Amino acid sequence: MDKTNTKKFYIKTYGCQMNVYDTERMVDVMAHEGYAVTESPDEADLVVLNTCHIREKAAEKVYSDIGRLRAMKEKKADDGKDMVLAVGGCVAQAEGDQIMKRAPVVDMVFGPQTYHRLPDMVKQATSQKAVGEKPRILDTDLSVDEKFESLGKKDVEQKTSAFLTVQEGCDKFCTYCVVPYTRGAEFSRNIEDVMTDARKLAEAGVVEVTLLGQNVNAYHGVGENGEEWSLARLIRELARDPGFQRIRYTTSHPSDMTEELIRVHAEVEQCMPYLHLPVQAGSDRILKAMNRHHTADSYRKIIEDLRKARPEIALSGDFIVGFPGETDEEFQETMQLVRDIGYAQAYSFKYSARPGTPAATMEDQVPEEVKAARLAELQAELSRQQVAFNEGTVGQVLPVLLERRGKGAGQLVGRSPYMQAVHVTLGDDSLLDRYFGRIVDVEILSAGPHSLKGQIIEEAAPVAARG
Ligand code: 5AD
Ligand code: SF4
Repeated sequence: MDKTNTKKFYIKTYGCQMNVYDTERMVDVMAHEGYAVTESPDEADLVVLNTCHIREKAAEKVYSDIGRLRAMKEKKADDGKDMVLAVGGCVAQAEGDQIMKRAPVVDMVFGPQTYHRLPDMVKQATSQKAVGEKPRILDTDLSVDEKFESLGKKDVEQKTSAFLTVQEGCDKFCTYCVVPYTRGAEFSRNIEDVMTDARKLAEAGVVEVTLLGQNVNAYHGVGENGEEWSLARLIRELARDPGFQRIRYTTSHPSDMTEELIRVHAEVEQCMPYLHLPVQAGSDRILKAMNRHHTADSYRKIIEDLRKARPEIALSGDFIVGFPGETDEEFQETMQLVRDIGYAQAYSFKYSARPGTPAATMEDQVPEEVKAARLAELQAELSRQQVAFNEGTVGQVLPVLLERRGKGAGQLVGRSPYMQAVHVTLGDDSLLDRYFGRIVDVEILSAGPHSLKGQIIEEAAPVAARG
């Protein structure tokens, strides 16, 4: 493509890894149309905000960003240049009409299941001659049938660690959550498409794959012969062919944590000893009101079984404090659960009422200052646990996948099996290429709350493929 014809595309991603993945796909789709990514919105011909609706704060941020972009767009228009401003993702899905009304500067609004139509939408939006006279487009169709085409050959960048979406949407309807409304019904990609994409990633040099889905452990992909694979089966097959060195999956629901999947943690060495398994709360009454379909004890039992299967497994979770009606005693049950489990890391949030969800209209909404105090107490305990977990790895030799350059000279950053960021200094920039993208044995020398420092001992032997 002639450089002078290259258009510039700026995309901002909010929220979860599913959005990160969708952003990568949109970049691929638009690259075929001659759009190159830019880091500066003011030089972009197309600006996309890939939004998140999970909590109020995330959604409000979108409107303040639109305000800033409006000024940019107006300035460009004064210079006779155009900028197409598009809002995609979950806020678009949930509040499409409102965005069109509240922000006339927005040219396009499209939901998370429509990004394959992005080139057509952009063509439509840029079809008119004069700046400011373009049609406005709203596409919030929720059917996923066409969205997942297999990755094109060119679409796989040189990466060592990649996401692969295998499942999307959710039928669980936790009473606080917008996902079933913004991402639609639970949908598993078929086995052939997943395996095709997996092989392309492996051929491109990817050694670690993270299988993505809002409810990834509910995966039930169908094969050409009508056979169904669970997530457990999929992981076993991927460990064999294409034989990734490392396999992770996220996010999981406790009620889909089957015995078969737990066995995978015991038997498939490439399945990393780290699991993000949200519990949300420690009180059975609150879990019931959340429609979680598990109890605190059934969660404890899953963790016990996982630890029997893979004793060193590191755990991560999500927590919501101040769900409607939550008493101090019930919150203390969450604290007790956290102390019982011991997390390597975790995410915790104040309950945020989301319009259209059942919990938003429940009585006994918890006052903001109570939520804030509970969150502070919970986060203090979770950070204490995180520090303790990180410190516990000092002195150990861990296999680390070195996947990006660090800030300092001769530095590389990688991940331990437990998802910790590990910094190593090679001392010499010429060694960077030799180690980049490799799994090496690193002796952990020190630990901070968010990362570890270590030194390379030797290259780790590849894990033998077994399923
Ligand atoms: N308020 C606060 N936190 C929420 N989450 C989902 N919905 C809400 C809400 N309405 C949290 C849950 C979920 C994570 C992705 O976000 O903990 O697991
Ligand atoms: Fe939301 Fe619950 Fe589905 Fe997770 S399981 S996406 S919290 S509805």
